[in-house]
Amino acid sequence: MKTVSPFREINPQGDQVLVRFEGADLMLPRGENLAGALLVAGVMPFRHTPVSGAPRGPYCMMGACYDCLVEIDGVTRQACMLQVTEGMEITMPAIRGGADA
Ligand code: FES
Repeated sequence: MKTVSPFREINPQGDQVLVRFEGADLMLPRGENLAGALLVAGVMPFRHTPVSGAPRGPYCMMGACYDCLVEIDGVTRQACMLQVTEGMEITMPAIRGGADA
């Protein structure tokens, strides 16, 4: 889902690359932090919790909370620990049950 973002890009003249989030095309700044770039693009939530289905998005931005989990090419990853690269196919992680995070 895409919303109006309260965040602003640091370098709007920088190199932009095409990525997809849940099937939507997004132009994001190459090499920037993926979680930050998705927030600037207005993407929220990044995932839903397995038990309650509550929406989640980046919180700590340092790899501790796991609220920024996304699925890239079938692998669940922390968006705050990745850089934007061209052609990323990003989806919300599939809910497979287990403890609520
Ligand atoms: S925002 Fe907390 S682990 Fe990524």
